[in-house]
Amino acid sequence: MRLNSKKDKKSKLRLLLEKDDERILADTEDLKEVLNKLRFEGRQHHKKNITRAFSALTILKQRLFTHMEEEEDELFPFLWKRLPRLEPVRHLFLSEHLEFRNKIKGLFKLLRQFKINGDVVVNGALIHEIYCQGMYLACFVISHIQVENNKLYEAIDNELKADEKQKLLNLLVQF
Ligand SMILES: [Fe+2]
Ligand SMILES: [Fe+2]
Repeated sequence: MRLNSKKDKKSKLRLLLEKDDERILADTEDLKEVLNKLRFEGRQHHKKNITRAFSALTILKQRLFTHMEEEEDELFPFLWKRLPRLEPVRHLFLSEHLEFRNKIKGLFKLLRQFKINGDVVVNGALIHEIYCQGMYLACFVISHIQVENNKLYEAIDNELKADEKQKLLNLLVQF
């Protein structure tokens, strides 16, 4: 892929960097919505809402895990080599990725506790715990995306040389 103007370079690269963000943010909104339903809708809706929570979490997990793997395997190693001053945020981002993985695993474990011998057993304390953990996860993911945009993508726009941006763009179009 060739780049024609300075404006094109920035916009195409930025677009690729942000390609998953909108979808992941929508997934977190879906999760928040279903958690609200689980917590505030009546007991007769619990079975349906627990199934919805499973599916919202599964979708977020798939998209977020794929995105994090791409960052960890491709984007991050490329950047730390060229922008060494960002080294401290490397640890921040990696520790946040690890927390997302652990939180999602923990949430699936909590959701599975509803099903005893194939039946959904309503448990108010468990619903409250899932609501709090799930909301925390959703807000944390939103904040992570904002920080990546501010710290990482801004630095890419402002500090990488033209040939480095082209290399990064070539790397990102493969995904
Ligand atoms: Fe990330
Ligand atoms: Fe990201």
